[in-house]
Amino acid sequence: MGDRWYSEAVVYCLDIDTFADSDGDGVGDIRGLMSRLDYLARLGVTCLWLHPIHPSPNRDDGYDVTDFYNVDPRFGTLGDFAELLHQAQNRGIRVIIDLVVNHTSDEHPWFQSARSSPDSPYRDWYLWSDQEPADRHQGMVFPGEQNETWTYDRTAKAWFYHRFYKFQPDLNVSNPQVRAEIKKIMSFWLQLGVSGFRMDAVPFIIELTEPGNPKSPKDFEFITELRQHVQWRRGDAVLLAEANVEPDELPTFFGDGSGSGNRIHMLFDFMLNGRLVLALARHDPEPLIEALRDTPKLPVGGQWATFLRNHDEIDLSRLTTEQRNQVYAEFGPDENMRIYDRGIRRRLAPMLGNDRRRIELAYALQFSMRGTPVLRYGEEIGMGEDLSLPGREAIRTPMQWSYATNAGFSTADPEKLVRPVIDKGEFSYQQVNVTAQTSDTKSLFAWFERMIRTLREAPEIGSGSTTHIDVSMPAGVLAHRADGPTGTMVFVHNLGTDDVEVDLSSLEPEADMPMDVLSDRGYGELGKLGAVKLAGYGYRWIRLCRGSAW
Ligand code: GLC
Repeated sequence: MGDRWYSEAVVYCLDIDTFADSDGDGVGDIRGLMSRLDYLARLGVTCLWLHPIHPSPNRDDGYDVTDFYNVDPRFGTLGDFAELLHQAQNRGIRVIIDLVVNHTSDEHPWFQSARSSPDSPYRDWYLWSDQEPADRHQGMVFPGEQNETWTYDRTAKAWFYHRFYKFQPDLNVSNPQVRAEIKKIMSFWLQLGVSGFRMDAVPFIIELTEPGNPKSPKDFEFITELRQHVQWRRGDAVLLAEANVEPDELPTFFGDGSGSGNRIHMLFDFMLNGRLVLALARHDPEPLIEALRDTPKLPVGGQWATFLRNHDEIDLSRLTTEQRNQVYAEFGPDENMRIYDRGIRRRLAPMLGNDRRRIELAYALQFSMRGTPVLRYGEEIGMGEDLSLPGREAIRTPMQWSYATNAGFSTADPEKLVRPVIDKGEFSYQQVNVTAQTSDTKSLFAWFERMIRTLREAPEIGSGSTTHIDVSMPAGVLAHRADGPTGTMVFVHNLGTDDVEVDLSSLEPEADMPMDVLSDRGYGELGKLGAVKLAGYGYRWIRLCRGSAW
């Protein structure tokens, strides 16, 4: 394993409230999650990313916090959380938590105090304007659900700023007290034993918002400060950030340009996400070839976090209108499957018509791309969505553990569940559940288990460098390679439906007994690299050679 744990991690994200309910109140909890750690260890994940765990009125699924120094009582106690960290650590699993400090809930005592009087010590912790700001109707993140970013507060007799919903007032990071408090929050959780943070909405955290200026300046130095602080408190802690910005802005989030990665360690690769989905929709590797070619050079220690699905919509806003329409036509044909004029609120299995070959292909592609893979709970068994639920809730249904009532998620009365389980159609828990799949060596779960194990023997993917193999390929086929001190892995993925033969003979001089380590079927001896067979939607991960580090 390389020097930095996060480079070769497999991250699994989940929301405690929909994972496993231990006390039968209908809401998942920490003890429930603890009882499923063995399952996660078996799957092979090495790091959990927990969605917000703090007390919250839950109007944005926990992304509206009322107390940064506690866990939501629905989930258990701080004691339970410390126990979870211990139990996870015993299994070699690290835990990172969502850090949502761009804003608080409007019910947070800081905001309650701030709005109550101009003399409140917390008044300047938020952003106010006495006049109606000219850009009041600009910069909304949730079009259709939000129509302004400045809202008049009658108690405060002033306008306050909120990049997201109006119940999420933005904190004022130009206030040194706010900065100090954010550092204190991070220290608290590091001290308790988390391995880092998934930092929510980073481009907005560093915005020095000025009323009337929709292009307010950003203070990148604040990220440098946070990084220094975190690294001093815990040397191996990691920052994984959400920064869905233009590609040319990305490097600034990793470092200050001096060549050292002195800001965020890992950024979600939103660019790759959109292109992966486009490539799948078109049966064409071109968008991925572009992604590999256009990847900005990262400073030492900088790393991408790859994903296919997360807890939000698939954001297609960085595709052209034509590309977006193509993806919609393939994967979100009904208006009800789309959201915010830019995305799709579906899980991957239903998007791919529950076609096992395509699901494997898609995840084999993601996990072979440069970076650290992030997997969302339930994807490993091919869960579906519930489009009758509002907005992003469609993809936030309870984990499907078994054939038992409520999918084995909870023993509560079904009406009391935090969200209904999927109990109809081909994605119902009677068809898709952990119990069935963990006892079936041919299940999607078993495939994920094998694929993740294979990754353990291919550290080049996480720690090495990945490039497109630019030789002539049959239509639909992507060939890429990952090189590192441990050797070279070569990957061929067929996004098309036709069986093909791939010519990789240009790699012969480097090959040292090449062999398949993962493939969609038994292809027999690999033999000559000049005629590598590949079925429609097939893939082969080939170890080309081992390096001196073995
Ligand atoms: C991030 C989260 C999203 C949340 C928003 C506001 O984008 O991923 O789920 O609604 O921040 O905190």
